[in-house]
Amino acid sequence: MTNKVRKAVFPVGGLGARFLPATKAMPKEMLPVVDKPLIQYAVEEARAAGIEEFIFVTGRGKSSIEDHFDHSVQLDRVLRERGRDQEADELRSWVPEPGQVAYTRQQEPLGLGHAVWCARHLIGDEPFAVLLADDLVQAATPCLSQMTAAYEGTGGMLAAVMEVPESAVSRYGIIDPNGRDGALVDIKGVVEKPRPEKAPSNLAVIGRYILMPEVFEFLGRKERGAGGEIQLTDALAWMIGKVPFHAFLFEGRRFDCGDKVGYLAANYAYAMARDDLRENLLLAIRDIGDGQ
Ligand code: G1P
Repeated sequence: MTNKVRKAVFPVGGLGARFLPATKAMPKEMLPVVDKPLIQYAVEEARAAGIEEFIFVTGRGKSSIEDHFDHSVQLDRVLRERGRDQEADELRSWVPEPGQVAYTRQQEPLGLGHAVWCARHLIGDEPFAVLLADDLVQAATPCLSQMTAAYEGTGGMLAAVMEVPESAVSRYGIIDPNGRDGALVDIKGVVEKPRPEKAPSNLAVIGRYILMPEVFEFLGRKERGAGGEIQLTDALAWMIGKVPFHAFLFEGRRFDCGDKVGYLAANYAYAMARDDLRENLLLAIRDIGDGQ
């Protein structure tokens, strides 16, 4: 029997320095893919997987995220006055219910592990999901739903993984696999941002996790790992052998929206999936040619 995953943590404290100047006064998680901010994709994915409590670990300058997941009374009124009720309803539909959303601050940028640890009191003693909004996954069944379905069978912890080229392993948490059963890979090790010659495989963790609260015990020690940061990956490694822990080869296409090319590709892919945009987008792109 597994405990249902009801809570999700969204670490949104990062500076977004790779997207300056766009992110000077705007959180990187509010960058839109087509017409929806990255963080909304992550929240919708969590909700589709049955998440009931949405916990944001924020930082300075992130208040627009709070406003985004709140009703805008003024906008609602104006849209309805103009007969745009459907849009007004749609805008209300994805805002969490009162009390379903919580914000806590990561007061210092000490790493992803530290960000997750900042949510410990809001999580308490139950399993929880972590979603990194930078990692956008386009899939017929949303990535976290695929994972919660697998979790019903495995319990314990899961980390979404995908194959990456050898040249890219140093950008990710890389697992040391120990046999595979369908989409599930048994893990005997995981290492943060290894050099290619030291990488145990080319299976990279992407930003979707189902974790057990025991990780907080390790994270609370505040041990510094790769890059001098408190790494979530190190807490995952510490959990190996204590609880079932599987890597999960999800189905779908993942975009690294923390990277300019990944972000642009995501915009293209999501626009091409839209009947109202595809044709005109193709015409516009043909018109641009190779841009020279
Ligand atoms: C983080 C994690 C890393 C993971 C990656 C996925 O790294 O530390 O293990 O592979 O997210 O996007 P970051 O991208 O924050 O450097």
